[in-house]
Amino acid sequence: MTQVPRHVLIPRAYQRLGSERPVRRWRLLDAIGDLAALLELIYSTDQVVVRIGGVRPEEQSVGAECTGAPTAMSSGAGLLAVALQDLRLEPGDRFLEVGACTGYLCALAAWLTGRQVTGVEIDWSLVRETGPRLAQAGADVWLLARDAERGLPDGTWDKITASFAVPSIPASWLHRLAPGGRLRTTINGGAPGWHATALVQRGIAGALTGTLTAELWGHVPSRRVGWLPVPSPPDGPGRTRCAVLPPPAHTARLLGGGGPSAARGAALLGSGRQRRGGPRRG
Ligand SMILES: C[S@@+](CC[C@H](N)C(=O)[O-])C[C@H]1O[C@@H](n2cnc3c(N)ncnc32)[C@H](O)[C@@H]1O
Repeated sequence: MTQVPRHVLIPRAYQRLGSERPVRRWRLLDAIGDLAALLELIYSTDQVVVRIGGVRPEEQSVGAECTGAPTAMSSGAGLLAVALQDLRLEPGDRFLEVGACTGYLCALAAWLTGRQVTGVEIDWSLVRETGPRLAQAGADVWLLARDAERGLPDGTWDKITASFAVPSIPASWLHRLAPGGRLRTTINGGAPGWHATALVQRGIAGALTGTLTAELWGHVPSRRVGWLPVPSPPDGPGRTRCAVLPPPAHTARLLGGGGPSAARGAALLGSGRQRRGGPRRG
């Protein structure tokens, strides 16, 4: 991770202001206004916010306070490191990331595989600005704008990772996984609570097996899935109770054999109902 100049990929980022959670107040940083603060933010283990309210940073004043919800961010470095470890990237692997955003994970994968990697991103404006920055950082990445849930570019990949959460794994992603390949994604339907990480492997003979692990941290949901609303705390006097529970201490085997785990696995892999109803964007 020290090999990729993340500040070239993220020349501007938003610093959190105040103690309110979720954070609503931000300050835009760049290298001219406050280089030290920018570098501290970019090379931290936190998510790095690069869009507030869908507005491009170029259209906002550096140093000025702005309010709103983040609409694009580079993933936390810890989450990306775990994803790379789970995928077991090898030199020469064909790698695909869906949800490429700032291109940081693609650049890391290009460095690890020593070859061109592919990134898919739904947001055109991010693709337009990320392409030249990847070239400037010396990363060989083919970046394309499309909704990855509606299909992937032609080809097969040895390693596929999603940097956004899906309610179930689209069948089209599994079809693109080469024999011996690995796919990793966060599973979340937009409900606040535990995420799950699905890690799927395709055997040399073509069979799919996988594991599903409960996690404290996961990627943000796909742009096609809305967060379910969380009720606001009552205005009057009340009692606050912490509802954070430890994750279940099991890893469920998805495929192979029968039983409830296999049924759950089949559901995750998109056979039967792909999506439940509920709020969804575009
Ligand atoms: C958390 S960011 C990924 C960050 C990236 N790993 C990085 O470090 O810069 C998730 C990205 O997924 C993109 N995304 C969400 N839904 C998508 C979809 N259906 N198809 C393609 N990209 C999508 C978002 O626009 C966002 O840029």
